[in-house]
Amino acid sequence: MRGVVALLLALCAMPASAQEIVGDAIPKSLTGQPGDPARGRAIVANRSVGLCLLCHSGPIAEERFQGDLSPTLAGAGSRWSEGQLRLRIVDGSRLNPDTIMPPYFRTTGLQRVARNFDGKTILTAAQVEDVVAYLVTLKD
Ligand code: HEC
Repeated sequence: MRGVVALLLALCAMPASAQEIVGDAIPKSLTGQPGDPARGRAIVANRSVGLCLLCHSGPIAEERFQGDLSPTLAGAGSRWSEGQLRLRIVDGSRLNPDTIMPPYFRTTGLQRVARNFDGKTILTAAQVEDVVAYLVTLKD
């Protein structure tokens, strides 16, 4: 029983400690596991989950009307390390307080959150890892 409690406590503590920011990056996976690039691509392409293409364009030929408010995602994997990409998805306002990019995995300090996102993150930790795994493959 004590062992189970200790395990649960360790699991609860994990996202916080795994989210440790070093410089301009979060070097460690939020889940402790590598993400899946194919699932990540689907999240980025999806207009109701990631919404990335509202602002960004990317090498996703089947999606029309991509955004031009932001740098293209093409080549993101050569411009940034995996850890740098992770922090940009988790909470870009850590790097640019005025950014319009939503913080996809920030749980505190959110203003005006839609009610169904209240207390939740926009993406789960596993979804963040999938998106990061996809972005890493975008070498150009
Ligand atoms: C509301 C607009 C918006 C949305 C939605 C958005 N972003 Fe961004 N993103 C930006 C802006 C603007 C920047 C430029 C950095 C800044 O704001 O300082 C940026 C920067 C980035 C960067 C760094 C780009 C570079 O090479 O400099 C990556 C990678 C990125 N976004 C990925 C994503 C992904 C993946 C999603 C979806 C899960 C997403 N963004 C959703 C606006 C957005």
